[in-house]
Formats: sequence, structure tokens, C-alpha cells
Amino acid sequence: MQRIYFDNAATTALDTEVLQAMMPYLTDHFGNASSTHSYGREARMAIEKARKSAAQIFNTKPGEIFFTSCGTESSNTAIQSAVRDLGCRHIISSAIEHHATLHTVQFLASQNACRLSYVKLTHNGHIDLVDLERLLSVSDEKCLVTLMHANNEIGNLTDIESVGLLCKKYQAIFHTDAVQTVGHFPIDLQKINAHFLSASAHKFHGPKGSGLLYINQHTTAKPHIIGGAQERNMRAGTENVANIVGFGRALEQATLHMTEHTTYIQTLKTEMLRLLAEQLPDVGFHGDTSENSLYTVLNASFPINDQTEMLSINLDVAGICISGGSACSSGAEGGSHVIRAVYPHENRVPIRFSFSKHNTLDEVEQVVRKISSIL
Ligand SMILES: Cc1ncc(COP(=O)(O)O)c(C=O)c1O
Repeated sequence: MQRIYFDNAATTALDTEVLQAMMPYLTDHFGNASSTHSYGREARMAIEKARKSAAQIFNTKPGEIFFTSCGTESSNTAIQSAVRDLGCRHIISSAIEHHATLHTVQFLASQNACRLSYVKLTHNGHIDLVDLERLLSVSDEKCLVTLMHANNEIGNLTDIESVGLLCKKYQAIFHTDAVQTVGHFPIDLQKINAHFLSASAHKFHGPKGSGLLYINQHTTAKPHIIGGAQERNMRAGTENVANIVGFGRALEQATLHMTEHTTYIQTLKTEMLRLLAEQLPDVGFHGDTSENSLYTVLNASFPINDQTEMLSINLDVAGICISGGSACSSGAEGGSHVIRAVYPHENRVPIRFSFSKHNTLDEVEQVVRKISSIL
């Protein structure tokens, strides 16, 4: 059976050229980058090449780029360091962050390490910047603001340049989870007043288990994983050279083809939205479906009934892979914390479609046809 994969916000397929770039570091060039002999040096050179390339793409310095094991580790490192090392006693975040952030800030608050405030959301799930400024202006403790660049479930984009400016005005530390935007949108760290930024390679056709953390050079963060001197003492543990090479190459490829992929994937999302609205009068859409949103994500909603409650399972049976809410947490807590936070009174079935360059308009039509026939 030919399957259709519409769950690219959960993870994407590894690019062939990325795999090819990684292969030598899984085979012949197996050296430990800390070794001083030639095997070690070739591994070291590959890591530093990836770091330099990522730094160039983000318009920043290689010394501010740290490779990690995933987006979750990057966010944990940033948030815990802001509280432990940078004196933040008040975290301002939102109720719709990914659990990598949300559970970390909740844990710190539960340990009395800091106070936690959630910024208000607008009717369609955007961060209310007026409320953010209010929270910052009345806080007498040093603040960490941790807000995601784009929401992985409803796709909303946050104006992180404005958030950064507010943080600067109130001398707050700013971390942004850019896991859904790196590789899909241009990121210029000279324009964002961020102290920390988290990214993850598997969201843009790189390998799983390969993350990046940007730490601004003036930020005196301390390591989250202690041991050896890897990553300039910021992250102990022998480097996963192949995955770092994979991160670098995937980011280069994504950046090179960004304009063409953006235009192409946006047409898939626009057509999906149009066809669903045309053929299913009861459909609704979560979040902001305008340009203030990920072109890769469309979150639809259906009234609850026997058919819609079984929709994701029946689509799976038909070979169509989508996500009900977030794949990272599906099923675990009885529905999505994001949908609950933005639409507390709603009782509908959310379905997330997320697209990549590998999808086609024909697949969009097939999926809408299948949903129509099931419902
Ligand atoms: C917005 C967001 N943040 C963080 C993560 C976690 O990234 P990783 O899977 O690399 O730990 C994800 C992955 O689902 C995500 O979508």
C-alpha cells in the first residue's frame, strides 16, 4: 500500500545527501574528536566545519553554537542554566509551549527554584505582547522569558524580534524554542535579542537525536551535562560526529532551497484548507491560518461523533499518517494541552496535517477525499 505521510511536524525523512555526508563518520572516520591523532583530527574538523556553517547561516559566531542530543536537551540546558547560573527567579512562559519547555519550567517552579507566570494568549493562540510587557514591567525579580518561535500543533508564529526587544528593555533573559522554524524560515541572530535558541535536525530532514543550542557569548551559562571538556566545556560526552555532520548538511540544504520549498509547501497547505472547507461544512481550523503561521502545519477540527473520534485510526488504516494534536504527547494525557489552553470551551476533534517538500497536491486531494468518505 502506498502510504501518505502528513506528519512532518513530528519528524521528517532524512535527506539522501545528508545520509551520504554522515556515512563516512559512521564507517571509516570513526575517530573520537578529542583524540589528537589523525582519526581524531578528521572527526574534529568535521564538527568544526558543521559549527562554522551553522554559525554563518544564523549570522553569528561559531563560538556561540553548541551541538546537543536533541531540541529537548537544548531547551533544558538553557532554561535550567538561566535559573541556576543567571539569577532568574521568575520564568515567563506560555501554556502552549512544547513539553520540553513546559515540563521543565513547571519542574523548576515545583522545586521553588523560581516563580512561574504564563503570558495571556489571544483568541487564536498568539502570544499577547501587551500582557508580556505587563508581566515584565511589574516583576521585581530577574526574569527568564521562554517562548517558542512557532507552535508545533497549531502552527502560530511568534514575533520573536519584538519579544527580544521587550526582554532587552526589562533586562530579562530570553530563550526561544525554534525547533519548528529552523530550516524552514531564515533565522538571523543579530536581529533577535535572544540569549538562547534551541533547534533540532530531525524537523528539517536531518537525523534524529541531533540538536543545537545557541548561547549568546555574553551569557555566562554553565554546563547541563558534566564530565569531559567537549563542546568547550558546555556539554560533556563524546560527540556524535555523524549526527553533527548531519545537522550541518541538513541545515545547508534547507537554507539553499528555502525559498522554493516555502512556496511549494505553502500551496499544499492552502489547497488542503480550501478543499476541506469546500467539502466538509463542519470543519474548523485551530490557530492562525494566515501568513503568521507555519506553512508546514494545518490544524483542522471536526465536531465530535463516532466517525470523527475514529478518524485518525481510520486514516492510518488507509495508509494516511496524520497526528491528532502533538505526536510527541499523543494519547498520554487525554488530548492536547495546546488546544485546551487556546480553546478551553471547545469540544471538537483536532487533526494536525503537516507537510514537507516530499508531499504533493495529488496527496492533498486523496486525503481530503478519504476524509470526506469516512465522515
Ligand atoms: C516545538 C518543539 N520543541 C521541542 C521539540 C523536541 O525536540 P526533540 O525531538 O529534538 O527533542 C519538538 C519536537 O517535537 C518540538 O516540536
